[in-house]
Amino acid sequence: MKLLVTGGAGFIGNNFIYVQLDRHPERELVCLDKLTYAGNLESLGPALERPNVKFIRGDIADREEMDAVIAQERPDVVVNFAAESHVDRSITDPAVFLRTNVMGTQVLLDTCRIYGVQRFHQVSTDEVYGDLPLDRPELAFTEDTPLAPSSPYSASKAAADLLCQAYHRTYGLPITISRCSNNYGPYQFPEKLIPLMILEALGDRPLPVYGQGLNVRDWLYVTDHCRAIDLILEAGQPGQVYNIGGYGERRNIDVVKAVLAQLDKPESLISFVEDRKGHDLRYAIDPALIQRELGWRPETSFDEGLKKTIQWYLDNRSWLEHIVDGSWQDRVERDRIG
Ligand code: NAD
Ligand code: TYD
Repeated sequence: MKLLVTGGAGFIGNNFIYVQLDRHPERELVCLDKLTYAGNLESLGPALERPNVKFIRGDIADREEMDAVIAQERPDVVVNFAAESHVDRSITDPAVFLRTNVMGTQVLLDTCRIYGVQRFHQVSTDEVYGDLPLDRPELAFTEDTPLAPSSPYSASKAAADLLCQAYHRTYGLPITISRCSNNYGPYQFPEKLIPLMILEALGDRPLPVYGQGLNVRDWLYVTDHCRAIDLILEAGQPGQVYNIGGYGERRNIDVVKAVLAQLDKPESLISFVEDRKGHDLRYAIDPALIQRELGWRPETSFDEGLKKTIQWYLDNRSWLEHIVDGSWQDRVERDRIG
């Protein structure tokens, strides 16, 4: 079995590659990534030493390139993690989100159709459902919740999901889609809440909390997400959407305070800043379908996951430093990696 993992040099994609090597050491893995600011081959170092893992630098929105890669590699399965993934960047510059997340997904769907790929899995997000009010804690997103994205990022992910479903209905392409809540864990780029707060706290700098920090996210440890995708590839129904959530709802302010407490830093570092435009209030997932059909459950509690995550960042300070000082990105350009 051969898997093409697009966006495999990003946060969730590279954790997925490690989970694959652990659970299915015999599989052939091809990681394809454009190495944007968010892609980092340093994260994949030990994986790339394995004879059954290969890296190709490529752009999912480049039709000729993707056609050549799929023609040459002939993967059985394509798992699409490649995306522009940060809401704040999508507010400043939406165009690249449409190019990669929408056009890139369409290019991949076309090439998978032409070459008869056995499964195309789209890694999506709970953000496609929009948000929930703060005063209705009983509400949670199911797979039937209507799509109502709020940001250019979530709108581009929703468009990609709809294309996947259209390719299933129209051409019979065997797609699956997973919509997951907020991930955290090792190798997450320090623009997202948890690694950014760790980085700033380590440097004794102010921790920027949007608005009053009352927005709620459901946090899932990244390897639990990767395990869920693995199960969907094994036993998921083609055409099906699976919601993945961690029963880990927290207000942002409580997440930030937990990071500070674990690092033994004072809460006076918290700095309330201007709110994000269109800021989604609350996300919550009902993962009943994946639990019932595939027997998946989150294994890592938020407290345990946060402890492991902070320890990983403390043990891998050079990984963070290479991102902050730009030396990793410089090397990519100098060596024309891939
Ligand atoms: P990330 O930003 O860390 O990684 C994205 C990767 O895609 C990077 O390696 C980047 O170089 C690559 N990439 C970007 N444009 C590309 C292109 N045109 N061609 C090829 N590669 C390209 O993102 P992440 O947090 O690992 O998210 C992975 C996927 O999971 C995304 O599709 C995201 O929407 C989804 N998701 C993320 C979360 C989360 O909390 N991070 C939650 C649910 C779903
Ligand atoms: P983020 O990690 O960007 O994920 P998403 O927007 O996809 O949920 O943000 C998580 C939450 O943290 C979100 O409510 C915005 C908030 N946030 C801050 O308060 N300060 C920050 O510096 C960042 C990056 C996020």
